[in-house]
Parts: sequence; C-alpha cells; structure tokens
Amino acid sequence: MRPAVYQATAPSNIAFLKYWGKADESLQWPANDSLSMTLSGLCSTTEVQIMAAPDHEVYLSGQLLNRSHSKGRKIFNHIDFLASQFKQDTKLKIQSQNSFPTGCGIASSASGMAALTIAVLAAWFNIEKLEDFPSASLSLSQLAQLSRMGSGSAGRSLYGGFVRWQKGTSAAEQSIVPAFAHHHWSLMDTVVLFSSQEKSVGSTEAHRAAWTSPLFKPRLAGIEDRLQQMLSALAHKDMKRLGPLMETETLEMHGVIMSAKPAVFYFDQKTADFLAWVRHRRQERGIPVYFTLDAGPNVHLIYESEYHKDVLNLLSQYPEVGEILSDEIGSGPVLKKIESEAKL
Ligand code: DP6
Repeated sequence: MRPAVYQATAPSNIAFLKYWGKADESLQWPANDSLSMTLSGLCSTTEVQIMAAPDHEVYLSGQLLNRSHSKGRKIFNHIDFLASQFKQDTKLKIQSQNSFPTGCGIASSASGMAALTIAVLAAWFNIEKLEDFPSASLSLSQLAQLSRMGSGSAGRSLYGGFVRWQKGTSAAEQSIVPAFAHHHWSLMDTVVLFSSQEKSVGSTEAHRAAWTSPLFKPRLAGIEDRLQQMLSALAHKDMKRLGPLMETETLEMHGVIMSAKPAVFYFDQKTADFLAWVRHRRQERGIPVYFTLDAGPNVHLIYESEYHKDVLNLLSQYPEVGEILSDEIGSGPVLKKIESEAKL
C-alpha cells in the first residue's frame, strides 16, 4: 500500500500593523508587534508523503527544487530545522502550490511556511486533523512558533480572523495569539497586481536594513499606540478609524524601506498613482476602501464585504488595472490525511 498523503492548506495573511525589522534575526524575534487579517482563498497547499530516499524531494508548483535553488534553500532549511527540533530523519516527498503568483507581494512565504510546517509534522507524527496535534503534544501555538522560524509572518497564518504577534520582552516570550475570530467582522481584501515578478531584494535582507533608516526608531516608539488604536477600531468594527491607521502604517513602513541603506523601492509610479487615485475616489464617492501594501508593488484594498460590488465597479474605472484577486477574511488552516492509492 502507498503511504498516506498529509495535505495542509494554509492561508496567507495581510498585516494591518506590519512586522518590519527583527530584534534578533537568528531567533526570528521581531522588532515590533504586528496585527494581521488571515485570508481565505489566497493560500498554499502542501502535500507530504513519507518516502525511502537519501534526501527529501521538494516540488514547488510542479518544479523539483534542490537544496541550492534560491527558493529551495528556505524550504530545505525549514525542514532541517523541524527535523532537528523533533529528532526526525524520515525523508519526505513534498509538493506545494500557491493559489497566486509566488513572490508577488502576497505573502507566499507566510502561507507556504505555515502549510509546510503543518504537513511535515502531520506526516512525521501521523496526525489526521489539525485538532489532533495536541495528542502528539503539539499545540496550535507551538505550530505557530515553529512556522514563524521559517518566515516570521507565517506564524500568524496558523489562526483565522485577526491575529496579533506580540514581541514580548524576550525572544522566548513572544507569542502569536488570535485577537478576534473571523466571524467578528466580514472584511475583504482585493489585491490589485501591478507586478507578479519576484522582488529584487528579499524581505529578510530588507528587514535587516530597517535599522539603518533614521525613521525606524521613531516608528518603533509609536507602534504600541498604533496597535492599541487598531485593536480598538477592530473591536468597534470601525473602518473609518482602522483605514487611515492602516494607510499611515503602510506608508511609514515603505518610508523606512526607502530611507534604509541599501534603499529599496518596492513600488514605482504606477502603484503610487493608483494609491492617490484610491484616496481621491474614496473622498469623492464616500466608499470606505483603504489600502495597504506588503514589501512589494501590489496593493491590497481592504473594505467591508457589503462594499464589494462598489469596489469592483470603482476598479473597472481605473484605466491601468490589470489582474485583481479578491479574497475575504478566513478561518485558518486545514489538514487532511488522504489514504491514497494513486496520489503523488
Ligand atoms: C512586509 O515574514 O516575509 O509582509 O521573517 O524574513 O521571512 P521573514 O520575513 P517575512 O516579512 C513580512 C513582512 C511584511 C509585513 C508583515 O507581514 O507583517
């Protein structure tokens, strides 16, 4: 009989308060707290099967990656990290796919590392459903902590709804906790793609450069206040308070990135024109739609689901909008065990 396939689907997440800069890179300790919304359809699906082989086999979107491949390195490093944590040397066949273009500013490393962590551990410990992890003495919070070691933002993808990553006073004390469940507030995220190219400077390198920006320390000094204001706006489902906070946060993060050494421009005039257009149209039409960007050129428009048609209609009037991807707040990852004869 063929070995079972463990299939994990983990959503991406979009940060309203950004994780930007690390207090300790090797421990993946963030410089500040962050707050995100877990998505639903923008996700990674990773299938893992135990196999007898000298090394793991990793496929991303059908392409076989080796250890020295730029995309493969991060994945193999994370599998090796998990193997050392759990003293495992069982080799795995791993197949992963994203529902969106890799490296396009939709956090593929967030969903990818979360799905990888869940599926690898499920295969090693024969776990059939997410709820069964505690039987292997693994809590969701530990899975989030393990995922964050692969990519910081991945830790937040272990929970649905609105998720807070608390820096704590030491690396050992950081925690990733759900702030509000997904049914608390039905928000949507429509991503307007200006480029699906890989970024020229990876976010890990750019995180490192944050400390060289003259804007970084003042930013850190104001984070707690912004976090509290965002939590209050979320609690009251107040888009007119949350939206401006989110936009200021995005522009501030990009200000840090642009004023760091090396300075990085993750977006160009096309994105900048679009942001100005969104602000004008919002004022003119009174549609409460607000933008945020990750470390990339693509724009995430955040709004309440009742405005979805209005936002799509608005976008249809923008001359240069290419591909758009609409998603909504989601309930978190899913794990399935497939007793497959023919799979993989
Ligand atoms: C801009 O999680 O990709 O998306 O920990 O180095 O893998 P690494 O960084 P990553 O950084 C994401 C930064 C961000 C903001 C955020 O998601 O909070």
